[in-house]
Amino acid sequence: MAQIIWYPGHDVLLKDVVRAEDCYLYDSNGKRYVDLESGVWCTSIGHGHPRILKALSEQAAEITHNGFIYSSPVVEGAAREFLALLGFDGGNLVFLCSGSEAVEYGVRVTRMITERPLLMTMADSYFGAYGSAWRRDESEWFSFDWIPCTACPDDRSCNNACKHRAAIPFDRIGGFLFEPGSSSGLVRFPPVKLIRSIVAEVHGAGGLVQVNEVTTGIARTGRWFGYQHYDISPDIASLGKGVGNGYPISVTAFAPGVIDRLGGREIMYAQSHQNDPLGAAVAREVIRVIGEDGLIARAGEIGEVLIRGLEAIKTRTRRIREVRGRGLLVAIEMEDGPEETLTKKTLPDMLDRGFVLAHRSGYGILRVDPPLTIAQRDIEAFLKTFEEVLTAIS
Ligand SMILES: Cc1ncc(COP(=O)(O)O)c(C=O)c1O
Repeated sequence: MAQIIWYPGHDVLLKDVVRAEDCYLYDSNGKRYVDLESGVWCTSIGHGHPRILKALSEQAAEITHNGFIYSSPVVEGAAREFLALLGFDGGNLVFLCSGSEAVEYGVRVTRMITERPLLMTMADSYFGAYGSAWRRDESEWFSFDWIPCTACPDDRSCNNACKHRAAIPFDRIGGFLFEPGSSSGLVRFPPVKLIRSIVAEVHGAGGLVQVNEVTTGIARTGRWFGYQHYDISPDIASLGKGVGNGYPISVTAFAPGVIDRLGGREIMYAQSHQNDPLGAAVAREVIRVIGEDGLIARAGEIGEVLIRGLEAIKTRTRRIREVRGRGLLVAIEMEDGPEETLTKKTLPDMLDRGFVLAHRSGYGILRVDPPLTIAQRDIEAFLKTFEEVLTAIS
């Protein structure tokens, strides 16, 4: 273990996972765990999905990797399918390898197009492991704290009669990078009227709206994309995680006309695996499976069972402060203090009983983000076990 560098703030609780199938992980003793975190939202349609294994092996047997000077039909075809899914027919797209890249690429293009110095985002958003969106320098970014808006007395409009909104320097903002719901794993959803008013302002000034769908996209929230809960029209969409079902592939897509605004200037982003056929074949198969197997509606339906069950447990046990979620993107904020005593006890107890939950450390939050294929009986078994564990903790 010592030779591997792990991400800080998380203990490696399962040390010998040797196999995975659909929503289950198995350790070397054959013990089975229900995977309720999908490896940080990645295995959207379940581990080892037969259609993805087939797409992987068939494409690998044909061609895995493209150089910069040739393309292949699978890349071109997958791009067209993604653009159609996003309503960006006639637009442009690049396949990359991680969510961080998908976000950064869009930010880079926005900065090339806008003549204004700042991009706006929400203060609690997460965009990736590196780059401008990770650094968030104040000279380049305006970060808006939207939490005060949750106490807004006006439930219809959002305008500059509000001092908090009036402080947004729209005259210096050329783009809005919006993460519709994950909030750095806290699972919080900014108000619709606020988002619609920011988008209208940015678009009105000729700016660009980029949605970061790395976590919320590909049906997780019960719609194809998280931004669809806001009835807005983005110019750029960044997809990652679930789009590869565990294979490292991501997408940055541009609405028609956006790339034209570069006026022929080149996007200097060289990366050895951009637009590789293997990733494109996987991503194309993932969206086909989601569409053909009705997994969008399913995420909404199973999510409702889960959220309703957790609300009932909250009432009965008084150990949950809040349940938040859309579809199968769900957070349980525990009735916990800064030491997270309850959360840190619950996590290994659930693991002992065969359920893998995600932990958002520092906030007393447990997350339930299973593959969209999870059986309702597994959700019901989780709810039963979760209540038993919470009740047993003294
Ligand atoms: C909302 C959001 N955006 C971007 C990223 C970065 O994606 P990746 O870790 O694949 O680079 C993450 C990763 O957790 C994320 O949650």
